[in-house]
Amino acid sequence: MIILGIETSCDETAASIIDGRGNNIKVLSNVVSSQIEIHQKYGGVVPEVAAREHILNILPVINDALEKANAENSNNFFCQKNQLTNKKNPSNPLYQGGKKIDAIAVTIGPGLITSLIIGTETAKTLAYQWKIPIIGVNHIEGHIYANWISSINKIESQKFIKSKSYKVKSQIKFPALVLTVSGGHTMLILMKKHGQYQTIGETFDDAAGEAFDKAAQLLGIGYPGGPAIAIEAARVKSQKLKTKSICLPRPMLNKKNFDFSFSGLKTALLYAIQKEKNLKEKTPEYCEEFQQAVIDVLITKTIKAAQKLNCKTIMLSGGVSANKELRSQLDVIVKTKLIDTKLIIPELEYCTDNAAMIATAGYFHAKRKDFTPWQKIKANCNKDF
Ligand code: KG4
Ligand code: ZN
Repeated sequence: MIILGIETSCDETAASIIDGRGNNIKVLSNVVSSQIEIHQKYGGVVPEVAAREHILNILPVINDALEKANAENSNNFFCQKNQLTNKKNPSNPLYQGGKKIDAIAVTIGPGLITSLIIGTETAKTLAYQWKIPIIGVNHIEGHIYANWISSINKIESQKFIKSKSYKVKSQIKFPALVLTVSGGHTMLILMKKHGQYQTIGETFDDAAGEAFDKAAQLLGIGYPGGPAIAIEAARVKSQKLKTKSICLPRPMLNKKNFDFSFSGLKTALLYAIQKEKNLKEKTPEYCEEFQQAVIDVLITKTIKAAQKLNCKTIMLSGGVSANKELRSQLDVIVKTKLIDTKLIIPELEYCTDNAAMIATAGYFHAKRKDFTPWQKIKANCNKDF
C-alpha cells in the first residue's frame, strides 16, 4: 500500500511516500523543510511566522517527495509536478494506469493550530481531487510509529526488497512500552496491540524537550536546546574532567508512579547558575549534569514500568530520542537488566518531526480500513492521546 504522509504540526513542513507491506515499511521519500534558522533569532517558534512558511513550502515539499519517490522506483509512478489535476489528464500516471497513491495520512494534532491547518487543508484538497481516502493521525502516534520504520533487521529488509512475497517478522512484540519524549510531551505508553494506547505516566509540567530548550536558553547556548546541550555535554567527556562539582536533583526518581516533573530541575539550574562566577567555562559541566539528570529519571522509570508490565519490547519516540547518551545508556541498561526485552530506537532521521512516521502510522490505520471522510478531518491543537 502506498501512502503519502503530510506533517505540519510545528515548524517543519514535511512530506513522505512509503510503501507498506505486512509489517514492513519502505520509505520511498522523506522530505523535511526545517524552519529552525528562521525561528532561532526569536529563541523559539513564532506561530504566525511558522504558518506563513508552511503555506510557501507545502506544495513544493509534496512535489519533491513525489519526484524523489519516482526516482526511487524508476518505472511507472505517481502524480508529478503540475499534475495535481484530474484523472482524465492523459499525461497523469493515475490515468495511464501507473502506480498510484492509495491514501493520504496527515497530522491533525496536537500542535500549533495555525501550522496544523495548512497540512490538513492541503491533504483534504488532494484527497478530494485524487479521490483517495484520508487518515487523520495523532502526532504522538506518528512518533511511536517511527519505530516500525526501523524495526526490521537488515537481512530481513534485504529479502523483503528483493522478493514481493517475502513475509517479514517484526521485532516489535506486544505488550510494548513506549517512552515518548518530545518538545511538547513526556509520556510512558503501554501498547498491547496496534492502535491501542494506555498512558501509564506523564509529566506534570514541562516536557523533557521543553526542559532542554529552557535550560539552553538560561545558559545562552541557542535553540533548539536539546542538541545544543548534548554538544556542550559531550565536551566534558572529551576534556576528561574527573571532579564533579555540579549536582542537580533527579525529580520524582523514587516516587512509585511513572510520572515525571522537570520544571523544578530547570529552577534548580537557574539558582545554581545565578551563583556561578565562572559560567562560561563551566557551561559544558552544567549541560552534562542537566542532561544526565533528565536521562536518569527517564531511564529509571522506563525500566521499572517495563518490569512491572512484563513488556516484550521497549521503544523510544519523539525528538529527545535523538539524544545519543539517552540511546546508548538505555541500550546498556536494557541489555543488563531486561535480557528478554528488545529495545527498538528509531533511526535519527525519524526521531524529530518528519512525515514518514505519519505515513507509517497512517498505513497501520489503513490496514484496518480506519479512514475518515475528508469533510470530517479537522485540525485540533489540543488533540488528546
Ligand atoms: O518531536 P520533536 O521534533 O517536536 C515535537 O513534537 O515537540 O521534538 C523536539 C524536541 C525539542 O525540544 C528539542 O530540543 C529536542 O526535541 N531534541 C533533543 C535532541 N534533538 C532534539 N533533545 C535532546 N537531545 C537531542 N539530541
Ligand atoms: Zn514531534
